[in-house]
Amino acid sequence: MSPPQDYTSPTTVVINRVLMANLEIQETTGHTEQCTTVEAFLAALQPSPEHRNYFFADVHPDPESPINFSQLPQGEFGLPLIPATGPESDNLLTADYHAFLLCGVSVQAYPDQLSASLVVDANYLPAPATLAEDVPGATYDLVHSMIDLAETIARNLGRSQVTSWCYLGNGDNPFANFWSRAWSDHGYIVAHREDQYLVEMSENSSELVSPADLAGIKVHCYDEAGCPDYLLPALCQLLDIAERDIPAGDLGLSDTAWTSDRVRSEEKSAQDGNYRSINVLLTNEQNQPVALSQISQHHSDMPEVASQVLTVVMPEWRRNGIGTAVKRIAWHQVRELWPQVRSIGTSMAPDNSGMLAINNGLGMTRVSRSCCWMKDLKAVS
Ligand SMILES: CC(C)(COP(=O)(O)OP(=O)(O)OC[C@H]1O[C@@H](n2cnc3c(N)ncnc32)[C@H](O)[C@@H]1OP(=O)(O)O)[C@@H](O)C(=O)NCCC(=O)NCCS
Repeated sequence: MSPPQDYTSPTTVVINRVLMANLEIQETTGHTEQCTTVEAFLAALQPSPEHRNYFFADVHPDPESPINFSQLPQGEFGLPLIPATGPESDNLLTADYHAFLLCGVSVQAYPDQLSASLVVDANYLPAPATLAEDVPGATYDLVHSMIDLAETIARNLGRSQVTSWCYLGNGDNPFANFWSRAWSDHGYIVAHREDQYLVEMSENSSELVSPADLAGIKVHCYDEAGCPDYLLPALCQLLDIAERDIPAGDLGLSDTAWTSDRVRSEEKSAQDGNYRSINVLLTNEQNQPVALSQISQHHSDMPEVASQVLTVVMPEWRRNGIGTAVKRIAWHQVRELWPQVRSIGTSMAPDNSGMLAINNGLGMTRVSRSCCWMKDLKAVS
């Protein structure tokens, strides 16, 4: 797929992919909070200094108006290139799109990994409760050909590990559904798990901490315009600790240290992609790092839902109520600055006992689960 030229005219393939992904998430989890929008998906397709995403579709032209693939320009993987935005030919408009594969690679961190997100058309999608052995052969074959494609792309990009996150219903056994069979039959193992939690803001308004409530600790709040220069050293230390301490299962740690340039580059990608954010950074009087909590929202997301994407406390400050307080201050800021937000979601590893205690204590409830499948291509080649 060619990168998007603008956000206003997505082509059929992009619209179909977003619709199908959202349909599956809603059917599987019973919730809409994890759904994406066409605009956020297009933003993800824009290359940035930190990330590259490559989008593939399994296209079946209408036999009455076949696509002349040989006349299309070739993409970097030797596949015909079709547009993600802008005018599209009639035969692309009327084509059937059977499956969609989004491959993402991080440029600096995780140099071995490629993350694959696989979505199939509703005609192929078994109901979430379908037993693995009852999945139609056509679906099974389609999914396996797309997993093969993900592995080919990974090898092309010099990546030796493929990972893929799957959403599960709340409380489901991850091995019971169709996707689990597809990934495990293809040699993937569960490398990590996360649970998604949600809280209704209105129920917790009385518990919000105001930035003035923490004695001896300075509270700094900034938005998507970026971290003030004088706080960048504290922010980089907190992000390094987060990468080291947030449970990541067998996914491995990134050994790429955070620098001011890397922070600025991530901030610019978020601005270009139309994300807004609320960042609460706590320091001591000397501006040394204590804690960080970040909440973000894409401008096209449901305005009433925001995501708390990161919370971390420096090791020497833990077990003092700081983790709880920094989350509450961030909620307080949301209430002040984004009054349309009604609920806040977050995702965490089920074995992160500290964050689990905090989320339970703050009245968050689990709404869905997810697991990450991984294959080491070196081990099988
Ligand atoms: C999770 C984390 C933010 C907790 O910060 P904290 O400042 O220690 O949290 P609090 O002091 O507010 O803890 C509140 C309660 O949670 C529980 N808790 C905190 N850490 C715990 C741990 N490691 N094990 C078990 N319970 C824990 C306790 O009940 C605690 O109350 P208590 O100390 O009075 O018994 C911190 O450990 C951290 O930064 N971890 C690494 C980053 C991370 O995992 N972030 C979450 C993913 S986004």
